[in-house]
Amino acid sequence: SARYPFFGEHQAGITTPAQDRLHFAAFDLAPDATRDDLASLLADWTEAAARLTQGLEVGEAGAVGGSPYAPPDDTGEALGLPASGLTITFGFGPTLFGTADGVDRFRLAARRPAALEPLPRFSGDALVPERSGGDLCIQACADDPQVAVHAIRNLSRIAFGRAMLRWSQLGFGRTSSTSTSQTTPRNLFGFKDGTANIKAEEPDAVAEHVWVSREQGPEWLVGGSYLVARRIRMIIESWDRVQLAEQEALFGRTKGEGGPMSGGGEFAAIDLAATARDGSPVIARDAHVRLAHPETNGGIRLLRRGYNFVDGNDALGRLDAGLFFLSFQNDPEHFVTVQRSLASDGLNEYLKHVGSAVFAIPPGAHEGDSIGDTLL
Ligand code: HEM
Repeated sequence: SARYPFFGEHQAGITTPAQDRLHFAAFDLAPDATRDDLASLLADWTEAAARLTQGLEVGEAGAVGGSPYAPPDDTGEALGLPASGLTITFGFGPTLFGTADGVDRFRLAARRPAALEPLPRFSGDALVPERSGGDLCIQACADDPQVAVHAIRNLSRIAFGRAMLRWSQLGFGRTSSTSTSQTTPRNLFGFKDGTANIKAEEPDAVAEHVWVSREQGPEWLVGGSYLVARRIRMIIESWDRVQLAEQEALFGRTKGEGGPMSGGGEFAAIDLAATARDGSPVIARDAHVRLAHPETNGGIRLLRRGYNFVDGNDALGRLDAGLFFLSFQNDPEHFVTVQRSLASDGLNEYLKHVGSAVFAIPPGAHEGDSIGDTLL
């Protein structure tokens, strides 16, 4: 089972080969929390995350080594399980830096990155406030769902009295590969997802598109990134009645191998200019890969790291299923540009964006320091 270091220049869980499972959680600080509470919370979270990611229990005494007269330090359900590739990635939402009504509870307003603003409204948004926003976020990814859930559960428990869970999302089946060592997984529409993603083996692309540079700043965020989370409901019952050829046209890729409709295998370059005999474009004007492609968006690339979800069903007997879209980029405006381009995406007939959040992802911490030390 894989084990990734918690400390380092960048936080883990971004270029780390995407694990199979996700538990994502957004938190709000308690109404009476102070700046000291925030600092102590981040220190406690760092200490626990450093242990959990190495397959250790929370606290030296763990789940069963402490006093029989006190609740154990660790909740216990991961006892005996290996690290399972667990990564824990922390982020700061715009509301941490002061609210719209000018309240600056943590004296952080002056430190807010100019780029960290709530995302604008997009056409077709059907956002639910209870599934959106948050002062803080934690992304826990692992190859075992029990390990990812154990991490979020224990970190929420540690936050008790200082911050509380605002919303959370479980994901199964990664929908992206972030390393050339991985095969491309499939989303719930049945298509390979992650083919043209930024891969860890492309260090120049990672440096150019993912990590916040010194020129971009602010200084405390250099080596960090921005995370956009979108809970996208997929109307799979309607999709499942669409003809195969139409499904492929909507994506601009074949369903089997995942190659571009303009020809070639999975990793062949997409030829957006290719035309059919009658002069019509081979990759349709409203095809997802045309509208999301860097050529259509001034060279922008995102590091996508999303997961499939199925959360029961709705009152109409349709599965509450979809893609929990996660992307890392060194400017949230890059996501905004691509998402605006996708306004005419043919797929939209089968999609509904119901949750949305953006977070600044601070750089990694060095051993002995805490996540967020560069900010506080
Ligand atoms: C490509 C699925 C939403 C950005 C793709 C591909 C698939 C796919 C199958 C082609 C394979 C690949 O290169 O990964 C989906 C589904 C979505 C969704 C099912 C919604 C449920 C989004 C959103 C964005 C986005 C919201 C960003 C705003 C991209 C990008 C590419 C891509 C940048 C690569 C384009 C290229 O360089 O060729 N997506 N996607 N996707 N998607 Fe999505």
